[in-house]
Amino acid sequence: MRQQIVAGNWKMNKTLEEGVELTKAILDKINQPKGLVVVAPPLTHLQEIGRLLSTKKSFHLSAQNCHQEEKGAYTGEVSADMLVSVGCSFVILGHSERRQYFKESNATLAAKVNISLAKGLRPIFCCGEPLNIRETETHVAYVAKQLKASLFHLSETEFRKVVIAYEPIWAIGTGKTASSLQAQEMHKSIRDLVAKKYGKAVANDTTILYGGSCNAQNAAELFAQPDVDGGLIGGASLKADDFAVIVGALK
Ligand code: PGA
Repeated sequence: MRQQIVAGNWKMNKTLEEGVELTKAILDKINQPKGLVVVAPPLTHLQEIGRLLSTKKSFHLSAQNCHQEEKGAYTGEVSADMLVSVGCSFVILGHSERRQYFKESNATLAAKVNISLAKGLRPIFCCGEPLNIRETETHVAYVAKQLKASLFHLSETEFRKVVIAYEPIWAIGTGKTASSLQAQEMHKSIRDLVAKKYGKAVANDTTILYGGSCNAQNAAELFAQPDVDGGLIGGASLKADDFAVIVGALK
């Protein structure tokens, strides 16, 4: 069955103390969510915040990245096994900021997807086009290429564990959201692509999140679209009140 999910990507924000405070406020304000609530704090906070989240049903811990190798001499990196050992069940992979600033390629991301799944983490796999691609109306093909290159080698059983997040780069942190129609158009084309590769039943069960300036004001309209199954939230996940409203907008 298709899951509805709201995931908060804190990025590089909040000290541990602030993060604990935010988590407590989130747990306090969100009761009986209609889907899963995923929180992705910075690495240093995972264990402590994971412990808080584990006290309430439907709340899950996510990392924002992991390394593609199992272990070894990769100074400063963190493995999928380590993330699982501190309570993560999800990992965000392929965020546009990782692709842009850390030069993560489709091939590297395919390797990260593989190790995550092998170790029991569910990838929240991000895709999305930059503004110039949207302007030339080649965004559907651009996103299809990202998904094919990093996900479509998976078996059906593996693919069923993946959550896709469509995040148009021009909408991330810019206050410029995709319209609900633009989001629906892309989400439908992603679902059609999945259907072509894995069949209709798998496509129907695939969770596709929208991300990019999704906030307390626009979440309900975005989530109301038939192929939008929740959101990956950046800025608005740093305020418990806003995040709670967004979770409340799940259908
Ligand atoms: P934003 O970020 O909500 O601040 O636009 C979304 C994301 O990058 O996941």
